[in-house]
Amino acid sequence: MNIVLIGFASSGKSVTAAALCGRVGMRHVDLDRVVEERYERRTGARLSVRQIFGEIGSGGFTALENDALKSLSEMRDTVLSTGGRTPMDAANRECLKSIGRIVYLRCGVGVIMERMKQKGTPLTMGSTPEEIKKEFDKRDPIYAALADIAVDNEYFTPDEAAAEIFRRLSS
Ligand code: S3P
Repeated sequence: MNIVLIGFASSGKSVTAAALCGRVGMRHVDLDRVVEERYERRTGARLSVRQIFGEIGSGGFTALENDALKSLSEMRDTVLSTGGRTPMDAANRECLKSIGRIVYLRCGVGVIMERMKQKGTPLTMGSTPEEIKKEFDKRDPIYAALADIAVDNEYFTPDEAAAEIFRRLSS
């Protein structure tokens, strides 16, 4: 069985995935890292996902993510943390559904904006509060419709979020 974590940038997907793996003894794969590796193999350039998005734009980035997801179709006993934009594409959504149980790590837009003050915003959206809120309002219903369960991750530590996910998926 695989578990797929989706949610807005800065919702805690990667740290929660690592905590979940510690708890259930599964392997952690982070889709952003797979995208970076595949891009490097193709071009020889070692760039971050944000830089890759800047280089190849929206269509190229979506195609690369889709390719990366397809390369993971055989994986087992893995927690996959996705990029915030991954579920916005219909083909990516189909891949995610076939990979495993989908968990939406939900944080309100206020908490997201506070965290983004430290980490910055992805290049896929503007950086004003209005632009972030607009993107959040577009994505939130899509994440919610895709997920098997939604876990409110505003106040949990990664370990608490992992315990909650484990409890909900086991019941
Ligand atoms: C994005 C989030 C990033 C990364 C890319 C686009 C987004 O992943 O995939 O920069 O538009 O939300 P994280 O959610 O892991 O930051």
